[in-house]
This record gives sequence, C-alpha cells and structure tokens, in this order.
Amino acid sequence: MTERTFSIIKPDATRRNLTGAINAVIEGAGLRIVAQRRVKLSEAQARKFYEVHAERPFYGELVGQMTAEPVVVQVLEAENAVAKYREVMGATNPEQAADGTIRKQFALSIGENSVHGSDSIENAGIEIAQFFTDDQIVG
Ligand code: CMP
Repeated sequence: MTERTFSIIKPDATRRNLTGAINAVIEGAGLRIVAQRRVKLSEAQARKFYEVHAERPFYGELVGQMTAEPVVVQVLEAENAVAKYREVMGATNPEQAADGTIRKQFALSIGENSVHGSDSIENAGIEIAQFFTDDQIVG
C-alpha cells in the first residue's frame, strides 16, 4: 500500500550543502518527495518534535543541534515508505550503518546523523501534521 513518512535533513547536512546529494539517494531508492520546505526550527518546535526523548541524557544537546541551523522537512511517499526510508537512512549510529545508506555516507556521529525518519506509520502521521497541511502535500 502507498504510504507516507516524514523526513528531516538535519543541520549537519544542510550546513555541508548535502541536501541535493541526500535527495538523490532518497529518489534513487524509489521514494517520491511529495512535500519539502527549508525551515529554521524554533526551540519550542524542536522540543515538541523530540518530546519522546525528553528524559534522555542527550535531549538538550539534540534540541541545540536541531535549532542551530536550518533543516529541510519532507514528506516521502512509496510502497512501505516508513520501513523503506529507515533502510535507506541506515542505523542511527553511523558506525553501524550499512554501506550505501545515507548515514554511512554522510553522518558525522550519532547526534549529527544527517537525517531523521519516522519510526512507525502512526508517528509519521503525527510528525507530518506538525509541519504540513494536507494541501501542501502533492502526491
Ligand atoms: P533521530 O532519528 O532524529 O531521533 C532521535 C535522535 O537523537 C537520533 O536520531 C540521534 O540523532 C539523536 N541521538 C543523540 N544521541 C543519541 C543516542 N545516544 N541514542 C540515540 N539517539 C541519539
């Protein structure tokens, strides 16, 4: 079934001019970019987005990194988009990411790991709604 997932190209990647290179990997894997916007996250937006990690020791650093410079927020569409994009991104820790994945190619560290992708269909819906209205997504 056609599905949508939410993606963020993170500050470590936008800073190094890697938006196009990452989009090429995304599109090469058969995921369609059906919405996309460059935005500088506010602290409130980043805190809310990563609310589930609020008790984790890296939460403050994560919010700091995500608000330091612009990000690119995206909606990706494909058959099994959530699982497919997680495969394309590779493991959260780039040292464990498989060859050819975005994080293996571009990530600097577990914190500066270049991309975020939703971990479930339910969370994809929640995350997409934080950044896009239905009419901004053109499939
Ligand atoms: P992301 O998929 O955006 O979801 C939460 C983020 O927290 C994760 O990617 C990492 O960039 C970041 N992070 C920083 N430190 C850790 C850690 N020790 N374990 C998991 N995620 C971490």
